Amino acid sequence: MNRKKRILTGDRPTGCLHLGHYVGSLENRVKLQEEYDTFILIADVQALTDHFEHPEILLNNIREVVRDYLSVGLNPDKCTIFVQSMIPEIAELAIYYLNLVTVARLQRNPTVKDEMKQKGFEANLPAGFLVYPVHQAADITAFQADLVPVGKDQLPMIEQTNEIVRRFNGLYQNVLTEPAGLVGTVSRLPGTDGQGKMSKSIGNAIYLSDDAKTVEKKVMGMYTDPTRLRATDPGHVEGNPVFTYHDAFNPNKAEVAEFKMRYQQGKVGDVEVKRSLIGALNTFLEPIRARRAPFADDDKKIDEILIAGTARARKVAQETLAEVRTAMKIQYPFSL
Ligand code: TRP
Repeated sequence: MNRKKRILTGDRPTGCLHLGHYVGSLENRVKLQEEYDTFILIADVQALTDHFEHPEILLNNIREVVRDYLSVGLNPDKCTIFVQSMIPEIAELAIYYLNLVTVARLQRNPTVKDEMKQKGFEANLPAGFLVYPVHQAADITAFQADLVPVGKDQLPMIEQTNEIVRRFNGLYQNVLTEPAGLVGTVSRLPGTDGQGKMSKSIGNAIYLSDDAKTVEKKVMGMYTDPTRLRATDPGHVEGNPVFTYHDAFNPNKAEVAEFKMRYQQGKVGDVEVKRSLIGALNTFLEPIRARRAPFADDDKKIDEILIAGTARARKVAQETLAEVRTAMKIQYPFSL
């Protein structure tokens, strides 16, 4: 086949996107949209696996995520942005794939395991949650994606997808593409509390849509080196989120190196290092805020982007589904 290589990736519309999303995946998408036929899915069905009691949050979050995409420079003329639940072919594929994976294998998926613990699902695990990696395999393969730019926590999903693809191709016919994962420049950006990753539910995230004052407040409240009591104590740079953020967002490498040296020698206070980080983050976010502004109140424009993207995405998913059904010999001679 002689087509352009494809990207498929996406986000759950459970809130606004943050700096962790940027370094984990958005940055790669913006760069690669020139080179790849890029499909970006807003995973509302997947969001329901842990938000099924509050489906009413989805509509507004879907639009906010599109605004986040536009603000970082994803261009709807170059990439196809679409809504997962409006592509029923994905759900159909997922049903077929469910036969190709065992419950035991899903229970071993490290990301599912972590999330089950985090959400306290142990006793009453919804079946839909356990099988969401299979649904994600359907997302990726419906578009025959070659590359999936994601945060590091998503790599087990791609491994799981590849197992399903190999099983399908071996059992039926070689029609599905095995995707590769692509992780961003910073594999895991910690939250402002230095714990785990940035997360809306923990309240430790800096959002792409935060204004300058909010960024200032969040950085001033950020955790640093808990063992350091005074600015004259030698401090730790490793595992200190203020320095992880400096490394990720301050383009002035010489300044960062000097801060690190002085910090380790007990010759600079937290406040000075944080002030400089506030400056770097706001410089980074300024053009993002400017690109967002024209769409801030324009739901109509956002909805148009989704309609055009979803229509195009659906055609591609329909083509894949026809190949899948033929390979499985369930493309019957009688049809509607
Ligand atoms: N699971 C991803 C997340 O939580 C979102 C997602 C859904 C996704 N389907 C996808 C990512 C397909 C990459 C490919 O961030």
